[in-house]
This record gives sequence, C-alpha cells and structure tokens, in this order.
Amino acid sequence: MVAAVLVLSGACRDSESASVGDTEATPGSAAPTTTVDGCEPSVPSTCTLRQLADRHGLLIGAALRPDLVGEDPEYGEVLAAEFNSVTPENAYKWPSTEPERGVYTWDDADATAEFAVGHDQAIRGHTLVWPNSFSAQQYEILPAYVGDAPDPETLQQYVDEHIEAVVNRYADVTDRWDVVNEPLSTIGAQVDANLLTDTLGEEWMVRAFQQTRALDPDAALYVNEILAERPGEKHDALIALVGRLLEAGAPIDGVGLQGHFLSGAPSFDELTAVMQDWEDLGLEVAVTELDIVAPDGEPATQAQMYADVFSSCLAVAACREITLWGVTDAHTWLNDFLGEESDPLLFDAEYRPKPAYRAVREVLAAEL
Ligand code: G3I
Repeated sequence: MVAAVLVLSGACRDSESASVGDTEATPGSAAPTTTVDGCEPSVPSTCTLRQLADRHGLLIGAALRPDLVGEDPEYGEVLAAEFNSVTPENAYKWPSTEPERGVYTWDDADATAEFAVGHDQAIRGHTLVWPNSFSAQQYEILPAYVGDAPDPETLQQYVDEHIEAVVNRYADVTDRWDVVNEPLSTIGAQVDANLLTDTLGEEWMVRAFQQTRALDPDAALYVNEILAERPGEKHDALIALVGRLLEAGAPIDGVGLQGHFLSGAPSFDELTAVMQDWEDLGLEVAVTELDIVAPDGEPATQAQMYADVFSSCLAVAACREITLWGVTDAHTWLNDFLGEESDPLLFDAEYRPKPAYRAVREVLAAEL
C-alpha cells in the first residue's frame, strides 16, 4: 500500500546524497585518482563511510528518528551521506504502530520508509516482536492491551495480526526483519520468562518466523539479541535457542548482535570468534545497534574499540552489516538511560566526525 507513495517520493533525491563527512586532507598523501563518486580509498579522507561500505558490499546503518529529520537538516544530511541503511529506532515497534487495539498510527514508520527510499537506503525492520521482561520494566515495549488478552488464543491472534499489518505495509521497502527481539534474559542466559513465552511457549517464535517468511519471502529474518557478543554462557544459550527454533521449522537466516557496549567493547578476538560460530552454523550475522562508551572516556580508546568491531565484521564473511544506534552524540538513547552524556557515537553533538569516525574509515579503506 505504501509502496507507490514511497517510489514516487524517491524519484529525485539523489543530489542530496553528497558527502558531508570529514574532508580533512591526509598529510603527505598522494593526490587521489579520479573516481566516479570522488572516493579514492587510498586517501580515506576523500570517502564517506557509505562509499567505503558500498565497495565492501557491507551495510552500514544508523537508527533513524523521523522527528529529528524534521527538526534538524544536518541530521538528515549526515544520515543520507554516511549510511546506506537505516533502522527505525522506534517507528516500526508495536506501541508505535498499533498503540490501541485496531488503531494504526503509521506516520513515523511511513516517514522513516520515505526517507530511506528517497536516499536509496536499505531498511532493517526493527522489530516485530519484543516481549523481553527486563526491557518491559524500562519501556512500554508491548501495548497495554496485549497484556490484557483474555486467553492464549487471543494473545496469539494479537501477535499474528500485528506481524501481518507491519510486514504487509513495509515488505516492499524492508529487506530484513528483526522478527524476535531479545528472546533471552537480559541478565542471565536462559530463555526469558515473559508474557509471550510464559503463555505460548517458544512456539510463538517459530510461528512469528514462519508468518514473516510467508508474508515477505525475500527478506532475511533475524533473531536480535543484547549482550551476546562475547563467547560465554549467553552466546551458548543463543546458539541452543536458535538451534531449537530451526529444528522446529523457524526460517531463521541470521543473528543480530546489538552491540550496546556501555563499558568497553569486546576484543577483536572475542567478537570474531562469536561471529565465526554463527557463520559455522550457516547463518548471517550483523551488529545491529552499535554504540560504545569507553571506560576511560578517552576518544582514542573509543576509536580503537570501534575499529576492532569493524575489523571483526570484515574478517567474517557472514557479517553483512554494522548499524549504529544513532548518528550524533546529541541524540542517543544512552543519554536518557544513563542519565548523563555518554558520547557513544561517531559524530559529536555538532555533527563533527570524531576520532572513532576516522578509525572506522581507516579500517574500511585499508581493507579495500
Ligand atoms: O516520543 C515520545 C515523546 O513524545 C514523549 O514525550 C516521551 C515521554 O517519555 O516519550 C517519547 O518516546 C520515547 C521514545 O524512546 C523516543 O525518545 C519512548 O517513551 C521510549 O520508550 C523510547 O525508548 C526507546 C526504547 O528502545 C524502547 O522502545 C529508545 O528510544 C530506543 O533507543 C530503544 O532501543 C532499544 C532497541 O529497540 C532494542 N535494543 C535495546 C535498545 C535500547 O534500549
């Protein structure tokens, strides 16, 4: 339904995709040879992250907030120039799309899709079903009426109808879906005890994957998990869960590692080992919500951690994507969550590229 509008809106936006990234010269570097898009990887400062990621066939994304597109032209400019993918930070979520039973509110999701299509960006559909009990204490992640479902059949019907509504509306513009978000306990390594799993068992997840596949056969379907980026109990538990779901007939294509590194990131070896395990199981892997707070607060430490995450992804063929959970330090969920400025992203509050940006650019350019 939304597709015709989106295709029309995308007709003439290409000129807005010009680079706004860091244009500083690399001291002592040779003059760049001319390329069609002006990016010469041997001189990284001539390239945006998007240009370099395109050359790798890598998706580099950012969480998008449509309210900021309207408020701040620079936000949209940087988002369009530096990223070839977007993830709706909140707009596709159940409380956003159907806050009251049968009342659909598509404005933010439509605006997100329009922005992405208009700037030739892929969309990660985040997220169809997010019932996690810990997250539910922090946020409204399920609309209230879902918790008031009178019986298991009605609860399952709510889930089915929600998935059907969102996927039908955005299948044309969304090439991958976080079908199930955070199925394990946030802290701990067991399957999360939440409204859906307690009432319907793990079967609701199998059904969610099957339904999404039937509605959008071409999309890659993901389980998206938090705090599962290092070898250990939670990683093992996720492997076990995904194995059970696959065995039960869930068409899972990949695993999203959210990458909220609030106190330092995994080492190159740790993250590479985890990604390699997923590749060995025949699945795709993606870093879906990356932000990094360096324990010492030093920009150089943060830059090295970002570089290591990107290096891990480039080292594992199954890694298809790295998405940042925002664009600028001025707007990050962490400022609310931590109650203080945390500066976890690649651009500072004035949209100046940080050392972490340059470190990521170096990694992407060096590997070409
Ligand atoms: O937009 C309303 C605003 O109008 C209202 O005044 C205000 C009052 O609280 O709320 C605003 O909406 C908030 C929204 O963020 C935008 O800031 C919601 O209440 C709040 O629940 C929402 O939080 C989001 C959270 O998920 C829950 O959906 C965060 O932005 C978002 O960054 C966060 O993202 C999650 C991923 O989806 C899954 N992984 C973890 C990650 C971080 O928690």
